Amino acid sequence: MVLGMQWGDEGKGKVVDVLTPRYEAVARFQGGPNAGHTLIFGDEKYVLHTIPSGIFRDGSVNIIGNGVVVDPVIFAREIATLEEAGIEVRSKLRVSKRAHLILPTHRMLDAASEASKGASKIGSTLKGIGPTYMDKTGRNGLRVGDIISPQFEARYGALKAKHEGLLAGYKDFAYDIAEYEREWMEGIEVLRSLKLIESEIEANRMLDRGVKMLAEGAQGSMLDVDFGTYPFVTSSTTLCAGVCTGLGVAPHRIGEVYGIFKAYCTRVGSGPFPTELFDADGQRMAEVGMEFGSTTGRARRCGWLDMVALKYAVVMNGATKLIMMKGDVLSGFETIKVCTGYRVAGEVIDYFPFETNEAIEPVYEEFPGWKVVIGGVRRYEDFPVEFRAYVEFIERATGVPVEIISVGPDREETVVRDL
Ligand code: GDP
Ligand code: IMO
Ligand code: MG
Repeated sequence: MVLGMQWGDEGKGKVVDVLTPRYEAVARFQGGPNAGHTLIFGDEKYVLHTIPSGIFRDGSVNIIGNGVVVDPVIFAREIATLEEAGIEVRSKLRVSKRAHLILPTHRMLDAASEASKGASKIGSTLKGIGPTYMDKTGRNGLRVGDIISPQFEARYGALKAKHEGLLAGYKDFAYDIAEYEREWMEGIEVLRSLKLIESEIEANRMLDRGVKMLAEGAQGSMLDVDFGTYPFVTSSTTLCAGVCTGLGVAPHRIGEVYGIFKAYCTRVGSGPFPTELFDADGQRMAEVGMEFGSTTGRARRCGWLDMVALKYAVVMNGATKLIMMKGDVLSGFETIKVCTGYRVAGEVIDYFPFETNEAIEPVYEEFPGWKVVIGGVRRYEDFPVEFRAYVEFIERATGVPVEIISVGPDREETVVRDL
């Protein structure tokens, strides 16, 4: 598994692409088009929202698991973009019949709910994620497998009508889904032309045959619906456990758990972020790291690495290996800070608490920065001593080895350690 250890956008897309030569199948198991996973090879750049990041590798099988929520519009556009670039998609793609559909009215409900919250809004990507998962657990949802049923149109109409009733309760919320709905129906046709599968059966059969499979997480641990900074979270289980419910894979079949983190922290949307910076350092991270959302284009909030949150994520996921991204962005900083504790009501704690409001004051440890550009480094031994000290501090603090270090957005800008 590859799982984000922070608030998303750690670089999962890049890493999954780097790891795929080791795997024959890649599966998404939660989230939906709120995700934006960027892959860069040479002059080519792709942002994937629904399709697993293994799609670029010849001969790979890419599964969209039952835990994913699919917007047929975004999905069909994604397929079209890849096909226009000459990438073979259809033969490599499988979609779970149990995956839930995001309806145009789910997007409207998301928007209406956020608008009604005013300043306390979650900062949702407005892709309809929350309302779709609500319908799933509320047992009202429509699933991918339903699109082949003769009753599909009627069931769509009934759910849409139900949503329209809910939307009527939001005063001053005007909407028009006609255009989107047309494209949605076209997207349903595209879905009908794909391989729709019982992914839990197929995934387990593949594992029985010894096929190596990589599960690609979306979002990050701090956005998990149970253990993240609730209510400023997404609506799915972003942790390791999500693969059991979102793909149908039993716990004992989970092998290596790669926890991926940035050398600093970012967050897009609202909610607690203890190490957030509002100064020149934060601005520099945002500029050098080009921290703008891959899905919404919003500016990402930036701050120092939060070891309290990282250690929490490592434990909650049972991470067996770590992957550090974007260390190149910190090159040239005189001093690098790492939050190793939270001061709450005068007392320092070293765990992630229930209360994560502004009352948390981060306690920092300082490290000398590395002054040289590291984008060209390909062997761990060639990193400056300060950089290695930073990596090894993280390894000691978490008790987990950092196996992969990414020093730039390109596939090639990667250091794999032989541990
Ligand atoms: P994901 O959602 O976890 O897949 O991450 P995103 O794609 O949303 O955001 C990560 C961003 O950082 C993308 O723009 C990547 O191209 C870029 N990126 C990934 N790894 C590195 C790295 O090591 N250094 C730099 N400078 N950029 C990186
Ligand atoms: P990837 O997979 C970063 C954030 C949103 C918002 C909150 C809820 O690219 O790492 P939602 O649309 O799920 O209702 O939004 O979660 N969020 C993400 N932030 N990366 C993501 O995905 C995210 N997906 C959702 O900004 O704060
Ligand atoms: Mg992203």
